Amino acid sequence: MAIVLVTGANRGLGFEFVRQYARDGWRVLACCRQPAGPQALTEIVAQSDGDVTTHQVDVTDFVRIEGLAHELKDAAIDVLINCAGTAGKYTIDEGAMAYQAFGKFDGEEWMQVYRVNVMGPMKMSEAFIEQVVASDQKKIITLTSELGSIGFNSSGNFYPYRASKAAVNAIMKSMSIDLAEKGVIAIPLHPGWVSTDMGGKNAPVGVGESVTGMRKVIDGLTMAKSGRYLTYEGKEMPW
Ligand SMILES: NC(=O)c1ccc[n+]([C@@H]2O[C@H](COP(=O)([O-])OP(=O)(O)OC[C@H]3O[C@@H](n4cnc5c(N)ncnc54)[C@H](OP(=O)(O)O)[C@@H]3O)[C@@H](O)[C@H]2O)c1
Repeated sequence: MAIVLVTGANRGLGFEFVRQYARDGWRVLACCRQPAGPQALTEIVAQSDGDVTTHQVDVTDFVRIEGLAHELKDAAIDVLINCAGTAGKYTIDEGAMAYQAFGKFDGEEWMQVYRVNVMGPMKMSEAFIEQVVASDQKKIITLTSELGSIGFNSSGNFYPYRASKAAVNAIMKSMSIDLAEKGVIAIPLHPGWVSTDMGGKNAPVGVGESVTGMRKVIDGLTMAKSGRYLTYEGKEMPW
């Protein structure tokens, strides 16, 4: 049975990854800050006959990430999905872009966005590398954004969030090079602008469509595609 680990599994895109992989018979390691909270996740676990399990982790707690990797040391993780992410103190609907405009520097905001979006995926990938290498598929996926693309940036603004996603793009590219000799495939993956708490009510893409698309991209990954910056539709983004 193939194994997937998902961070940010309690809501949004992370929860939809859990739902779809569970439905399709995968063993799912659903990681989030408060596993006991969301009823929908609890119901999936209860109906899964042990194939879906929840695991507490805050991706900014690097000691806890190491502890979790130790607890899950015997799991051969085919697909590690770094999905947990933050746009900062505010969602798009609450004014995240205005809050992150030029002239409004907030160091704490930058630190938190970087801790979650950049250091979290880096630490998770390092901590779980042996489990990924032990698997058949050996894939590490980090949810990035088109806002991390420098070439695609025609509207400015959103400084810490954009910078965090550009940084994690660089990280995933380096991983694709450094881990190739271990047979590991690593990509940054843009989910589209999706109607989650983060994406807001004007987002044109639904969570089901986005995750179905991302899973198709993940399924089709080969070493030749490692290090590419892809969208949920399988298109290549400019860096
Ligand atoms: N939605 C979009 O349009 C869009 C577009 C481009 C990229 N993305 C990326 O896609 C990913 C998922 O976004 P989403 O739309 O599903 O967002 P969301 O609905 O706001 O969900 C964010 C998830 O990240 C978790 N999270 C935040 N901080 C965390 C931490 N310190 N430790 C562990 N988990 C943490 C949240 O958990 P809590 O409930 O505990 O806060 C939640 O599960 C993110 O990386 C985001 O940047 C989204």
